[in-house]
Amino acid sequence: MVHVPRSADWVLITGASSGIGEAFAKRFASEGYPLVLLARTQERLEALAHFLKDTYQVQTLTVCSDLTSREAPKHIEGELKQKGIELYGLVNNAGFGASGCFTNVSLEKYLGMIDVMVRALVELTHRFLPEMIQRKRGFVINVSSTASFQPLPSSSVYSAGKAFVTSFTEALWLETRGTGVRILNLCPGLTKTDFGIRAGTRDFHKDPMAQTPEAVVETAFRALRRNKPTIISCWFNRLLVFLERFVPHRVLLGAVLLLQKIRGRL
Ligand SMILES: NC(=O)c1ccc[n+]([C@@H]2O[C@H](COP(=O)([O-])OP(=O)(O)OC[C@H]3O[C@@H](n4cnc5c(N)ncnc54)[C@H](OP(=O)(O)O)[C@@H]3O)[C@@H](O)[C@H]2O)c1
Repeated sequence: MVHVPRSADWVLITGASSGIGEAFAKRFASEGYPLVLLARTQERLEALAHFLKDTYQVQTLTVCSDLTSREAPKHIEGELKQKGIELYGLVNNAGFGASGCFTNVSLEKYLGMIDVMVRALVELTHRFLPEMIQRKRGFVINVSSTASFQPLPSSSVYSAGKAFVTSFTEALWLETRGTGVRILNLCPGLTKTDFGIRAGTRDFHKDPMAQTPEAVVETAFRALRRNKPTIISCWFNRLLVFLERFVPHRVLLGAVLLLQKIRGRL
């Protein structure tokens, strides 16, 4: 990590109950950071908290919260204030996908997706970043995706939401330069988590091209140390995003359409 943690250097991780968020929790705990673990599934959070306490002897606080609720970020801030917890780090990781053409997926699902991946991410950052800047130390990691670099038919709202995250986070990186606070836009590609099953696409655990969540988190740690604005995990994903820059936009759109058809997503 960027420094030796003090016992009061709390890190809040959203979506900590599984996948990339859980891997972040284990990695931060291994460095001695006390953690606020947030998700909806209380039992998974409690089990993780016990594991982290037993294995790494770190303090943990579990917060069972649904980020589709507009009140959630305010309540989270209130709970941390009440407990005297000041955040050193914030990892906006919670997110989910949905498979299908735009009109075949419910509006409720899409609005929930925007609430979790865009609105809650912006609001949590707005609530906790000012105090980090004031203390001249801390970090925010926003988990975006390689889907943020091109539109994805059959995941239109998801890829647009992640495009927002990438643009927003890079702008913040520029704004906060020299403040002592680090901002990182993390763009994983396919990762072996429950994400694909939950989104109704396929089991990413079985995809030989998918990275482990631990590898994604290691990449994020290295990038945060170097204070990079954006990191794309895995060299292959980096190569694809790099090559996209040289392809005319209409050709890129055609290629994306073809790929989604081959994958059976359209
Ligand atoms: N896996 C991939 O291939 C991949 C690729 C690129 C980017 N990403 C991004 O990585 C992040 C983590 O995803 P993952 O792959 O680790 O998937 P995951 O294993 O399904 O984890 C998603 C996490 O988000 C939490 N979450 C979902 N809805 C929530 C809500 N309404 N309120 C609070 N928490 C909520 C889930 O917890 P509960 O269900 O307990 O609430 C879970 O902890 C997401 O932002 C995703 O878009 C994933």
